[in-house]
Amino acid sequence: MRKKISIIGAGFVGSTTAHWLAAKELGDIVLVDIVEGIPQGKALDLYEAGPIEGFDVRVVGTNTYADTANSDIIVVTSGAPRKPGMTREDLIKVNADITRSCISAAAPLSPNATIIMVNNPLDAMTYVAKQTSGFPKHRVLGQAGVLDSARYRTFIAMETGVSVEDIQAMLMGGHGDEMVPLPRFSTIAGIPVTEFIAPERLNAIVDRARKGGGEIVNLLKTGSAYYAPAAATAQMVEAVLLDKKRVLPCAAYLEGEYGLNDMYFGVPVILGSGGVEKIIELPLNEEERALLQKSADAVRSTIETLKTL
Ligand code: LAC
Repeated sequence: MRKKISIIGAGFVGSTTAHWLAAKELGDIVLVDIVEGIPQGKALDLYEAGPIEGFDVRVVGTNTYADTANSDIIVVTSGAPRKPGMTREDLIKVNADITRSCISAAAPLSPNATIIMVNNPLDAMTYVAKQTSGFPKHRVLGQAGVLDSARYRTFIAMETGVSVEDIQAMLMGGHGDEMVPLPRFSTIAGIPVTEFIAPERLNAIVDRARKGGGEIVNLLKTGSAYYAPAAATAQMVEAVLLDKKRVLPCAAYLEGEYGLNDMYFGVPVILGSGGVEKIIELPLNEEERALLQKSADAVRSTIETLKTL
């Protein structure tokens, strides 16, 4: 039986995720939105690209959650994006309400699905998704680390002039400006990145990676990034549906790992058909631990804010 992927939210991130997923032929796609005509139009348009691009999947747009029933994957992209000057945390109230309503409609219809959250503030919205769905922790996770580390890898490639294909970079923490790129765990073809880039340049790259989402918001002025966020999401969907056991940084529910409890936070995980199959605990040094704690404090305070809404 073909796999079924439902994407909630047919905006730029949702529809671009559908595009990457269709190209990978990972399964049939249902695009859901509350706006009449938009998911139907975008889905049909994408479906009609199949004969040209040679992908053979059904792409359907709908305003009805019943059409998502028995999904293997539910991706949630719906919510307001940032405008210049806004932090991701500024979106909390409106996006928490949207997340609750999407998840309470979609989760009961697909009780065995893995939920991948993409809306902001990411770690807090993933927390809301777990609470609302009641799904086990390993089947509710958030995209962010894959995106953030892709930005970091791109900047390392720009700096060194070597292929992005040879750059591996680990990054941890919440999806906010306090995220923690980890140069000590970043390599070019297995060679530590510190062999290629001087410390002050590396610091500048780390800083740019942390603010990578804001850089795009400031350029676009009317919305936030979507190509890289969507590509990151598609890579996570692929890891789950093909049981790839990829080692990727994702927002996972922590119960004691890294000394953190009852929160979602970006950590390296093994991602396969069981969702988050394992959280990898890196041996961090004191400085890295301190940076991680600062990021954890920021995420914790956003999650606490949720409780007051
Ligand atoms: C970003 C937003 C989508 O990082 O969080 O681009």
